Amino acid sequence: MKILTSLAVISLAGLVFSAPTKDDNDGEKLIVTKSMFDKELVKYTGSHDIVKILLPLNSLNFDEDDSSESKSHSNESDSDDIILFFVEADIDSDGKYVDQGLYVLKKGNATKILNHGRDAAAASDNSTEVFFAAADGIYTYNKQKNTAEKYGTIDDSIIGIVKESGSDVIYILTENHEVYKVLNKGTKKEKLDDVVNAKQIVLDPSNNLYFYSDDKKPYTRTHEGVKKIEGLPDNLSSQSSVTLVKPPFMIKDGVVFVVENNVYIIYANGTSEEAGFEFKPKAKPSAYAPEAALLQYYALDKKIYEFNVLTMLMSDIVDELKEFLNNKSEDIKSISKKSRFSHRQNA
Ligand SMILES: *[C@@H]1O[C@H](CO)[C@@H](O)[C@H](O)[C@H]1NC(C)=O
Ligand SMILES: *[C@@H]1O[C@H](CO)[C@@H](O)[C@H](O)[C@H]1NC(C)=O
Ligand SMILES: *[C@@H]1O[C@H](CO)[C@@H](O)[C@H](O)[C@H]1NC(C)=O
Ligand SMILES: *[C@@H]1O[C@H](CO)[C@@H](O)[C@H](O)[C@H]1NC(C)=O
Ligand SMILES: *[C@@H]1O[C@H](CO)[C@@H](O)[C@H](O)[C@H]1NC(C)=O
Ligand SMILES: *[C@@H]1O[C@H](CO)[C@@H](O)[C@H](O)[C@H]1NC(C)=O
Repeated sequence: MKILTSLAVISLAGLVFSAPTKDDNDGEKLIVTKSMFDKELVKYTGSHDIVKILLPLNSLNFDEDDSSESKSHSNESDSDDIILFFVEADIDSDGKYVDQGLYVLKKGNATKILNHGRDAAAASDNSTEVFFAAADGIYTYNKQKNTAEKYGTIDDSIIGIVKESGSDVIYILTENHEVYKVLNKGTKKEKLDDVVNAKQIVLDPSNNLYFYSDDKKPYTRTHEGVKKIEGLPDNLSSQSSVTLVKPPFMIKDGVVFVVENNVYIIYANGTSEEAGFEFKPKAKPSAYAPEAALLQYYALDKKIYEFNVLTMLMSDIVDELKEFLNNKSEDIKSISKKSRFSHRQNA
């Protein structure tokens, strides 16, 4: 399973369109280059940087009980029914974000639904709920009206939001870097005193929280408390950027951590490992959505790209890549079976 964890799929996808590039020092590492972001994969082009993407893995997109035959017979490559959320911002010279709005992308049509929206979250369950962090509190998605509606009574300026699976608990990160647990339908908040000066928060599928602080070192907060992640380069604080990314759903107790151009998986037990991928500086995404594994979205240079692995497997590919994918076909099959869209393939 390890082979297809993290951003493996982006590399598989990219390899379809260009020969693999091997790192001379490390034959195992795949280098993600700009040519892998083919213009045919562009789903949306904006006029600001895209700083967040959310692909909800809930019934909004993957309805397990959907009995409508049309869906099961639809083309595997058809991702037109997918609903994505994304956030645009301008990044000023101090690295500060200037809000440019939260959008919903539906049938190729992007609609700005929240001017000061900054982040989006959804649980992986059978709900259709999506929550948004905004400059004046929490909002929720109204699917019928395709709008954002105020949720609860909290009015903090929020920059990050995550939603637990299997409960109604939400965690928010405020602009002054405090993290709160939000309960009772958005009417009650409790400060997490053990999460200090967080810059970003992410949840894994087992509801463990991850964050990093000024020194850019990541921590995990589980039912056992807060733990430092070991095994990462010790010069993290001198790196210009680190980013926590929601993992592909098969990683149950870990998340992705991008350090400069290198990709790691960090686990709830405090360990970490290299994912085996590196971005060329010009190919480093500004936002990541690998959570569905077989259908991934990345933002680069104000565009959102879609990487649909199954489509790519069916297309004509070079021999070298065919061998690469054949070697991994068991992993891909196993992911496909576990995937929330497996019902489409098996139909
Ligand atoms: C599915 O889509 C692909 C690519 O657009 C196309 O080549 C193929 O014929 C389609 N298959 C069906 C069954 O519609
Ligand atoms: C796109 O969204 C806008 C605003 O919601 C709507 O007016 C327009 O009809 C939509 N276009 C399509 C092709 O769905
Ligand atoms: C979601 O699944 C749970 C357990 O299977 C069930 O009790 C609940 O009614 C479902 N909710 C919806 C909205 O389908
Ligand atoms: C940090 O250390 C890694 C090796 O552990 C090295 O490759 C990288 O260049 C260093 N970065 C900085 C900014 O010092
Ligand atoms: C930590 O968790 C990961 C993922 O579950 C596992 O592969 C690894 O063996 C664990 N390491 C330790 C030291 O428990
Ligand atoms: C595929 O696996 C075979 C046997 O393990 C190995 O020799 C070959 O190099 C692999 N090919 C690729 C492209 O990874």
